[in-house]
Amino acid sequence: MVLWVYATLSFVLLLKFTANAINTRGTGELPGTLGTKVSEILNSIREGYDKRVRPNYGGEPVVVGVTMYVLSISSLSEVQMDFTVDFYFRQTWKDPRLKFKGPPGVNTLSVGTEFLKTLWVPDTFFVNEKKSYFHTATTSNEFLRISQDGDVLRSIRLTVTASCPMDLRYFPMDRQLCTIEIESFGYTMSDIRYQWAKGLESVGVSSDVSLPQFKVLGHKQQAMEISLSTGNYSRLACEIQFVRSMGYYLIQIYIPSGLIVIISWVSFWLNRNATPARVALGVTTVLTMTTLMSSTNAALPKISYVKSIDVYLGTCFVMVFASLLEYATVGYMAKRIQMRKNRFLALQKMAEQKRAAMDHHDEHHAKQTEVRFKVHDPKSFAKGVGTLENTVNGARGGDEENPAHPILPPGKDINKLYGITPSDIDKYSRVVFPVCFICFNLMYWIIYLHISDVVEDDLVLLEKTD
Ligand SMILES: *[C@@H]1O[C@H](CO)[C@@H](O)[C@H](O)[C@H]1NC(C)=O
Repeated sequence: MVLWVYATLSFVLLLKFTANAINTRGTGELPGTLGTKVSEILNSIREGYDKRVRPNYGGEPVVVGVTMYVLSISSLSEVQMDFTVDFYFRQTWKDPRLKFKGPPGVNTLSVGTEFLKTLWVPDTFFVNEKKSYFHTATTSNEFLRISQDGDVLRSIRLTVTASCPMDLRYFPMDRQLCTIEIESFGYTMSDIRYQWAKGLESVGVSSDVSLPQFKVLGHKQQAMEISLSTGNYSRLACEIQFVRSMGYYLIQIYIPSGLIVIISWVSFWLNRNATPARVALGVTTVLTMTTLMSSTNAALPKISYVKSIDVYLGTCFVMVFASLLEYATVGYMAKRIQMRKNRFLALQKMAEQKRAAMDHHDEHHAKQTEVRFKVHDPKSFAKGVGTLENTVNGARGGDEENPAHPILPPGKDINKLYGITPSDIDKYSRVVFPVCFICFNLMYWIIYLHISDVVEDDLVLLEKTD
């Protein structure tokens, strides 16, 4: 009984195995024949094909449809004025000589780059290219597909560094438009015409594209005709708009320079006689501003026009410099007032001495006396001014009315110069400097954020999938 069951089971298994083996051999045989058929097709295409002659020679121009897919944008350099973009570059055109009648199920032939060398391809180049790189790992990154109707699709992966002239007037609140221009090197409009194959969707940008300083706002496509001395050429342009993220500049430049300006105001609250502290504060802030300005411009090309960051840093520099000058003014005024006080005191003393002497010696002297004093001021002498000669009209009657200030005109305070005291200047500065700086900031940010906010017309916006 057991033996019988065992025999049946083995028989069933054997049957199944044989059937499988037959099946595999059956399906395994089919690709071989298809492969040889494809080889035959490719060989027949190659026969009599002249790759030097463009398709449809003498007839209508070849229409080359172009699409692009941007994989990454690796740099956007202000100094070099260029940008580097890595993309799939796909061209489609029709070559009637490549028509074939394939076996059922074979509509397109995917062939490698070896076969490509035997076919005519458009001599496309990038007009504003500085250098480009064709990827060859692990094999050259390109493919070719030929459809039964003779439509050819060629896709290559390229890294192109293209020049991008930038307008840095609104730096760092600027937006840059960089283009990649595509043109045929040798064939004029009568031979090759380029067009964007899928209209507005012809350019795709990967959502992984990210740059440290820029955001890709969108892109747009253009087709144009270029007139050169050798003929008229068809040209395509893919324009990508970038917006600078100014966070870096805000943290590294705007906020520090604003704080430096605020620090320079500390000087207005310090004692007027604290010369070392106030001078050190003024000089340090001026030097820091200089360093900030030069380090900002070191990373930028030496352009001759004024950028918006220059306006800000320049104003900060002027404010810091003004607060240093403010202390210089305060110090100078205090010195002048002190000198005048000393002189008046000396004059007063001498006048009193002379008057006492005169009272003693001659009672019958004329009322009006001209007294000529020679005052020796040690400060002035030290500076090389020497002796100071003052003529004082000492009227006796007047002296008695105002004995404290013998020669000061009425209504003038000895502690004031041009009507203000040094501490008044400090007091006004405490208000005027901050108000000026706040007004400047308001104007600056409103104006620049407004005028830099331009979006190109017909821009296909890139919606970020975060
Ligand atoms: C090129 O285009 C201009 C007008 O855009 C035309 O006048 C000129 O004849 C064209 N040249 C050729 C060689 O087709």
